Amino acid sequence: MTVRAALRALALGAALAAGAAALGFAAGNDDCLACHGDKDQKNAQGRSVFVDAETFKASVHGQAEIGCVDCHADLKKVKDFPHADKLKPVDCAACHDKENAQLNASVHRQPHRAENPITVSCADCHGTHDIRTKDDAASSVYAINVPDTCLRCHAERVKIKNGNAFVRQYTQSAHYRALEKAGLSLSATCVTCHGGHDVKAMGDPQSRVSHKAIIRTCGRCHVGIEKNYLEGVHGKDYVKGSKDVPVCTDCHNEHRILSPDDLGSRVYATKVAAVCSRCHDDERLARQYGLLTSRLKSYSDSYHGTASKFGETRVANCASCHGFHDIRTSNDPKSPINAANLARTCGKCHPGAGTNFAKGKIHVVSTKTENKSGHLIKVVYIVIIAGLISVFLLFIAADLFHRMRTRWTKT
Ligand code: HEC
Ligand code: HEC
Ligand code: HEC
Ligand code: HEC
Ligand code: HEC
Ligand code: HEC
Ligand code: HEC
Ligand code: HEC
Ligand code: HEC
Ligand code: HEC
Ligand code: HEC
Repeated sequence: MTVRAALRALALGAALAAGAAALGFAAGNDDCLACHGDKDQKNAQGRSVFVDAETFKASVHGQAEIGCVDCHADLKKVKDFPHADKLKPVDCAACHDKENAQLNASVHRQPHRAENPITVSCADCHGTHDIRTKDDAASSVYAINVPDTCLRCHAERVKIKNGNAFVRQYTQSAHYRALEKAGLSLSATCVTCHGGHDVKAMGDPQSRVSHKAIIRTCGRCHVGIEKNYLEGVHGKDYVKGSKDVPVCTDCHNEHRILSPDDLGSRVYATKVAAVCSRCHDDERLARQYGLLTSRLKSYSDSYHGTASKFGETRVANCASCHGFHDIRTSNDPKSPINAANLARTCGKCHPGAGTNFAKGKIHVVSTKTENKSGHLIKVVYIVIIAGLISVFLLFIAADLFHRMRTRWTKT
């Protein structure tokens, strides 16, 4: 405490104590600010106890005319100044019991793992003297500011199963980009996916990101996609409670959700086959659901698959022929692979493709032993594609060599 402040404190302390005792009134904000409005006011540990009167006045509590002592309640009946050094922590629940009850039932107030000895208080997310409503752009819980607020703890401090890098991946997502760069407050934030007060632990069936709830959570914003998904073969089984069918996050990731045009996306054209065949070449699933396997193998053996392996994005991947959200069985008349629709499906990329073009079997299993001609065709494809690429590379090299030589001869 500075000398000036100490003198003022003494004088004011005496006056306040006399006033409060005489009138029985609680101290007003101005009384507290007489000391706490001083930028140099520090506690015994040298930490500032300055409170910015303007910030407080602009806060939701300042606006609602909540007084200092309504929160710092043990000073309500203050008799002497300076007051006690140690005060009771503020109890927000005194006025917000509904939010407090929600928080108590959340992972943030349930017993934590031993490596996380952290108590989560209201002030950790809302602040103290600068609290604003969630629709105020300056609030720590306004959509655009939510990631920073949660990442204060989740970027590093809190240890979780998948490692903190898993959570930080959100900052690479299309959702974060929309929020940060475009200021699109309707984009997905930590809170739209996990909740604010009612955040649940992984594995808790009540979590908004549980297998059971995730379609609804993403579908809140991606309404049309949710509808398509539920009409497809995967969605129909999902509704029945199957855990073997893919949900949004199996194909798009949990946090690092990107546009399909982004090379890093799990559903970038050349990566779709890997996503689908994780299940469709799985023997256990095949037996259980009577599925045809060797989908990846037969696709890889096709011209499309071979070219895709070389990075060609224009050729067909699983999703170009089957669709992706409302995938249907071949005997469903609405399926793009239903015999009646195949010509149109191939025709998207092979203009003028007739029924004859589309007739050939697509998923031909062609291992060396089973089908020599299929294997031969694959070898021919590889040779042709590798040949084309080599010629191209040779051309670039020759061109480069020519340019360099012209330059050398000039200098
Ligand atoms: C006479 C000056 C003075 C007045 C008036 C005063 N305070 Fe303080 N207050 C201090 C000082 C000095 C400290 C630092 C105490 C210490 O050394 O830890 C402090 C600390 C505090 C703390 C932190 C306590 C803790 O546990 O860390 C709170 C909260 C607080 N004051 C609230 C108030 C409120 C509310 C009022 C009005 C009712 C008020 N003060 C009036 C001087 C004052
Ligand atoms: C909405 C409730 C609320 C109101 C109103 C409020 N405070 Fe606080 N104040 C807090 C919280 C929360 C803390 C953090 C410590 C704690 O939890 O007790 C805090 C901390 C403090 C501290 C300790 C230093 C610091 O900033 O951490 C001081 C001093 C203080 N308040 C003074 C005041 C004064 C003076 C007023 C009136 C102008 C006031 N407070 C109004 C909630 C409030
Ligand atoms: C883990 C972070 C976190 C904690 C801890 C937290 N809140 Fe919140 N709170 C939020 C978020 C985020 C919102 C905005 C919710 C939304 O956008 O739907 C919010 C909204 C609110 C609202 C406004 C509700 C509305 O409908 O407008 C109040 C009041 C509130 N919180 C009080 C509290 C109180 C009191 C505590 C402590 C018992 C607390 N919060 C603890 C994150 C938190
Ligand atoms: C003395 C009662 C009281 C205490 C204690 C109190 N508040 Fe409030 N709070 C209010 C009032 C009154 C409002 C004004 C708006 C309303 O709720 O209608 C409000 C509003 C809020 C809002 C904005 C609500 C909205 O509609 O968006 C948040 C967030 C909030 N308080 C958080 C807190 C937190 C966090 C604490 C503890 C640090 C706290 N409050 C302590 C009375 C209180
Ligand atoms: C688009 C929805 C979405 C957004 C946005 C999102 N998450 Fe997640 N989060 C998930 C899903 C899905 C999981 C994994 C669920 C599972 O495996 O059961 C998850 C898991 C987590 C986990 C647990 C990881 C573990 O290993 O235990 C934490 C912590 C987490 N998220 C925090 C955050 C934070 C902080 C943010 C904001 C910076 C955020 N999330 C944004 C959907 C989201
Ligand atoms: C004050 C630090 C703090 C803040 C701020 C915070 N959290 Fe947490 N969070 C924790 C702690 C501690 C745990 C418990 C970890 C454990 O169980 O060991 C946790 C757990 C979680 C979990 C469950 C992780 C799991 O593996 O089950 C999710 C999801 C989560 N928080 C999301 C959020 C979101 C969303 C926000 C912002 C609205 C947020 N957190 C803000 C400290 C914080
Ligand atoms: C079986 C895998 C799979 C599942 C499950 C899945 N998607 Fe997709 N999704 C894809 C593929 C593949 C694409 C890219 C198609 C393309 O190249 O245009 C895509 C594209 C998208 C797009 C980009 C816009 C568009 O329509 O092309 C969004 C948004 C999207 N998905 C959201 C979701 C949501 C929300 C869910 C859950 C309801 C979901 N996806 C479930 C595979 C899937
Ligand atoms: C709160 C609303 C909201 C929620 C919840 C949400 N999203 Fe989004 N999502 C958006 C918005 C808005 C965009 C558009 C961003 C842009 O234009 O770049 C987007 C973009 C996407 C994209 C990229 C589309 C493209 O073509 O660039 C994918 C993929 C996606 N979301 C999937 C998901 C998945 C999966 C979930 C659930 C885990 C989810 N979203 C939850 C609002 C949401
Ligand atoms: C998480 C595992 C998983 C992923 C990933 C997955 N599927 Fe499936 N799929 C299944 C299961 C399980 C069924 C069986 C559902 C049933 O028959 O009731 C199925 C059924 C199908 C069917 C109907 C097959 C039949 O014989 O009835 C087609 C077609 C299909 N999936 C295509 C795809 C495509 C294309 C992708 C990638 C975009 C994909 N799947 C990704 C698990 C998966
Ligand atoms: C060029 C278009 C095309 C591509 C690419 C393609 N498929 Fe197919 N798929 C078909 C056609 C046509 C059928 C039905 C006739 C057949 O079995 O040949 C089919 C049948 C299937 C079936 C059985 C569905 C049923 O109802 O009988 C599954 C499962 C399947 N494909 C999965 C995949 C997976 C996984 C990939 C990617 C690794 C993929 N497909 C790539 C066109 C394609
Ligand atoms: C997403 C676009 C796309 C779809 C859908 C598609 N293809 Fe292709 N396909 C290509 C491209 C690109 C090539 C490379 C050569 C070319 O341009 O003709 C190719 C090459 C081929 C080739 C080998 C080269 C040739 O022209 O003879 C065959 C055979 C073929 N496709 C059959 C089909 C059949 C059958 C279907 C429908 C079941 C189909 N494709 C659907 C893009 C597609």
